Amino acid sequence: MIRIAVLGAGRIGRIHASNVAASPNAKLVVVADPVESAANSLASRLGCEASTDAAAVLERNDIDAVVIGTPTDTHITFMLEAVKRGKAVLCEKPIDLDMEKSLAAANEVERLGGRVMLAFNRRFDPTSQAFRKAIDAGDVGEVRQVIISSRDPGMPPRDYVEHSGGIFRDMVIHDLDMARWLLGEEPVEVMAMASRLVDESLEKLTDFDTVMVQLRTASGKQCHINCCREAVYGYDQRMEVSGSKGMLLQENLRPSTIRRWSKEATDVREPLLNFFLERYEAAYKAELEAFVDALNANSPLPTSVQDGLKALRLADCALESALSGKAVKV
Ligand SMILES: NC(=O)c1ccc[n+]([C@@H]2O[C@H](COP(=O)([O-])OP(=O)(O)OC[C@H]3O[C@@H](n4cnc5c(N)ncnc54)[C@H](O)[C@@H]3O)[C@@H](O)[C@H]2O)c1
Repeated sequence: MIRIAVLGAGRIGRIHASNVAASPNAKLVVVADPVESAANSLASRLGCEASTDAAAVLERNDIDAVVIGTPTDTHITFMLEAVKRGKAVLCEKPIDLDMEKSLAAANEVERLGGRVMLAFNRRFDPTSQAFRKAIDAGDVGEVRQVIISSRDPGMPPRDYVEHSGGIFRDMVIHDLDMARWLLGEEPVEVMAMASRLVDESLEKLTDFDTVMVQLRTASGKQCHINCCREAVYGYDQRMEVSGSKGMLLQENLRPSTIRRWSKEATDVREPLLNFFLERYEAAYKAELEAFVDALNANSPLPTSVQDGLKALRLADCALESALSGKAVKV
């Protein structure tokens, strides 16, 4: 049994804490959040301790591992404190919004021999796993092109956007990680186009809401990512991988497979799953289990701080390209 503390009782912390509590191989010991009511209500629902002091939780000897689900600007501090005390870490993306700070943190984790997994949950989605297995089995032959469409149902709250680091570091980073994983080669060149088609006031933040990113690897493999902060038809998550022997396609998921016919319309299906908490429910669960399994087996963690660094670097290159209008070498 891996004894786990979850830091942060917000949107993502609640998901992680519930998954730890439900895991047969882990024990949820404590959840920490400075908002006492948030910590208390989550802890009482899941039957664990509550704390308002994450730093004190990290000093406890009865904790083996920590899940960091706190705001991005706290990730590095908690990650390094946990590693110094010999605790394994599952840390939410991104490591930080600043590349230099992220690099320094990654070096420190390595120097201390820390075990840190970056929470790129989409890799653990059953469909993404099926993609990876099919690619590894040679079903598509040599991968040539990856196309990812990722659109949120609506703009996040203004306060969130202001601290998010922008669409590339906050949202597209998931797709950049997925691109690296599916291409099986590091992108060496990034080209991006970015617009404000949903919210013009994002200009004040040098941010965008609608972007297209193109990546190229050294051998010429390509990826095209489409992202938008608003899709009135729901959370749009599709992927395509094509290669020398075939193609893989992932369509959107819906609550059920029912299709309706009537006088007015034919083949009407239910709306798409609402947002990431619903769409990636299974992925968050599998991500947590992969973390716990690796700790129990003392085997390598499935993602690393290096994955976090590489995705952040691609996000920074995409922003640079969008602002300069030029392709950027990674
Ligand atoms: N992987 C994903 O799909 C995914 C989805 C959403 C958010 N995230 C990431 O998770 C992180 C949190 O995002 P969120 O949407 O859950 O935010 P949120 O604002 O809903 O929750 C953050 C929580 O952390 C608490 N907190 C703040 N400072 C703290 C501290 N010092 N110690 C302990 N708790 C503290 C806040 O009170 C809040 O309850 C961000 O880094 C974000 O990028 C990842």
